Amino acid sequence: MSWVSERHLVAAISNAGGFGVIACGSMSPDLLAREIAGTQALTQKPFGVNLITMHPQLDDLVRVCVEAKVGHVVLAGGIPPGNAVRAVKDGGAKLIAFTPALVLARRLVRSGVDALVIEGSEAGGHIGPVSLTVLAQEILPHVREVPVFVAGGLGRGDAILAYLEMGASGAQLGTRFAATTDSIAHANFKRAFIRANARDALPSVQLDERFPVIPVRGLVNEGTKRFLAHQAETLRKFQAGELTKDAAQLDIEHFWAGALRRAVIDGDVENGSVMAGQSVGMVTAEQSVAEVMVELVEQALTALVARAGPIS
Ligand SMILES: Cc1cc2nc3c(=O)[nH]c(=O)nc-3n(C[C@H](O)[C@H](O)[C@H](O)COP(=O)(O)O)c2cc1C
Repeated sequence: MSWVSERHLVAAISNAGGFGVIACGSMSPDLLAREIAGTQALTQKPFGVNLITMHPQLDDLVRVCVEAKVGHVVLAGGIPPGNAVRAVKDGGAKLIAFTPALVLARRLVRSGVDALVIEGSEAGGHIGPVSLTVLAQEILPHVREVPVFVAGGLGRGDAILAYLEMGASGAQLGTRFAATTDSIAHANFKRAFIRANARDALPSVQLDERFPVIPVRGLVNEGTKRFLAHQAETLRKFQAGELTKDAAQLDIEHFWAGALRRAVIDGDVENGSVMAGQSVGMVTAEQSVAEVMVELVEQALTALVARAGPIS
């Protein structure tokens, strides 16, 4: 969760019994090193770092993690390159990767990945096309070699429990933590989360298949409407010969540059990118991370007790 999952939220999650993960996003290696040190100053508990594989300085970022003795590195945003996998493992850290399908899960296990995340299309941020309900059925019964974590649309402990019973080792939640009191997100960002329903968190729309748009789930706002108009205008310019295909594609990709920061940090929730999962409907108040954790565990315990039946 770029901009959101920084030292305060990460430390709060790890201190509350979860496993916080710093979202490196587009941070430079120096900035990441400072963020890791800042997190280590706030918690004695383990935490991880999420690196985006497209980052031009991926190798340097991995080195920063290894030097800072970060125990777990998550490689997100595509199939992890072999040299990054080796660098993480040789550095002594555990490697976690996302898998969108069973064949890829098997390949990742063979390449030495220590754990997998399956993230359904219900999630906030960049998403694939398949729901967690289906991914879980396709992947959980067949991957036993490494722990598999489930993500996407999870807002309650009893739902998490159901996936644990299906074979998951844990769950990754983003949306439920983004609007907590421990999150540094702008008050407008948190208010937008508290007000929103599941149906407000929609994937970005691609207007023309010649100009692919990576699907991102977020709250609909003026920005998402302007993105459609921007694609239409870019398409018109391409058809009129005013733009080459490459220039038009770049123009579309640049529309959202800096937009997540605009929403999370500046509080411009009308024009920025308010990435949120469908679980946003279950964010109804600004709670602390510790309160959310207790709630999730209690919901899971209540469900477990109910499964056990009456005590005779
Ligand atoms: C605001 C926001 C930003 C995110 N950024 C990232 C990211 O940088 N890297 C990543 O792997 N996942 C990112 N995600 C996805 C989360 O890591 C997590 O898988 C997802 O939030 C789980 O689904 P949920 O939102 O329904 O809880 C982001 C999610 C949100 C809501």
